[in-house]
Amino acid sequence: MRFRQAKNITLGGRRFRGNHMSLMNKYPRLTDLEAPAARRIPKFVFAYLDSGTGQDQAKDHNRAYLDGIELTPQFMRGRVNPDLTTKLFGHSYNAPFGVAPIGLSSLIWPGAESILGAAAKAHGFPYILSTVAGESLEMVAKAAGEMAWFQLYAPKDREVMTDLLRRAKENGYETIVVTADVPAPSRRESMRIAGAPLGSRGNSSFTPRVIWQSMLRPQWAVRTLLNGGARFRNMEPYAKQASADNLTKFIGEQLNGSLDWNYLAEIRKSWHGKMLLKGILHGQDAARAVKMGIDGIVVSNHGGRQLDAAPSPLTRIGSIRAAVGADVPLIVDSGIRSGLDVVRALSAGADFVLLGRAFMYAVAALGNKGGEHAATILLEEVRDVMAQLGLKTIEDVKQLNR
Ligand SMILES: Cc1cc2nc3c(=O)[nH]c(=O)nc-3n(C[C@H](O)[C@H](O)[C@H](O)COP(=O)(O)O)c2cc1C
Repeated sequence: MRFRQAKNITLGGRRFRGNHMSLMNKYPRLTDLEAPAARRIPKFVFAYLDSGTGQDQAKDHNRAYLDGIELTPQFMRGRVNPDLTTKLFGHSYNAPFGVAPIGLSSLIWPGAESILGAAAKAHGFPYILSTVAGESLEMVAKAAGEMAWFQLYAPKDREVMTDLLRRAKENGYETIVVTADVPAPSRRESMRIAGAPLGSRGNSSFTPRVIWQSMLRPQWAVRTLLNGGARFRNMEPYAKQASADNLTKFIGEQLNGSLDWNYLAEIRKSWHGKMLLKGILHGQDAARAVKMGIDGIVVSNHGGRQLDAAPSPLTRIGSIRAAVGADVPLIVDSGIRSGLDVVRALSAGADFVLLGRAFMYAVAALGNKGGEHAATILLEEVRDVMAQLGLKTIEDVKQLNR
């Protein structure tokens, strides 16, 4: 996609680069990037990114719940210059949001992990690398620096688990996120209908239909071929050691349904940094996790991709807070598409927010510029909403409805 180089422009005392202005004028919201993303990547890849499961009701409910949250402004509090600094686990981040882990992100757009990692580093918010991403822990540590967190799908083989954690530690990762909410692969019907062979958990043969869909997106196809196709660089060394001839089958066997409470305790013992548990919706699970030393809970329904009757995470925040007490950070994702949604989630009890698909739509639509543009939109939107509400700090936002 090409934009004519415009001159620098000054508006209301702020200077905007021409390029930034034209991109911001064309796509001022993250949702403006969904349709361009669909046009730029093959249909089956977009379906993998976009789909929920079943009738997509959980996915739709996530949105409906957020859309229903109203925020009541108060006025005449003087000039508001919002400060987005957010304290979490002893760190100070420049924003109250981060990038959720996305498996196979390099197949959605080649190099997506480094693109988003670099944006996270530039703006000072976390980027969470999936166990089953395309790029490796080592590559993303270079791009994201201290902003890199690692998401662990617990491998059946304990040696694989300890080695992944060793690599995370040696590469400077301080925080891991263990995902609990994939006890089995889900059906993801709309992805099947689109012909997607994707996933570390499914059949991955490339059908003529998939090849045809790929040929209709030549830029994606060439870049993907140059990038080595569907890679799982974090897991490849272990498949090699195990002489597995089918990588996706090996990964599926290692990662499907292996996590239970005993295993979680083992991981806790093996990891000395901060450790979060992701995908929790029940207060009892949250309380049990905290009791065994988990530092924070990611309240999530996996973007509505696992169980179509799963509650929207924000409906569970009150009971989870009651179960874990006031001090445990509750991080929320699923359905967040804007800075307004970030503020809504914080006002509804979240301490921090993650976005999955929204960042990926941006990268799929804009390639290298996608991470930076998504970050810029979100930061501007959060600032704008805080100013409209007359709120100066993230702490003020959290107190809005409490
Ligand atoms: C394409 C895709 C792949 C995902 N892969 C992972 C993963 O590898 N590990 C994980 O913990 N969550 C994964 N998730 C869930 C996200 O981390 C996050 O919970 C979800 O995307 C939040 O919803 P949102 O996309 O509406 O923001 C994935 C989600 C999507 C859309």
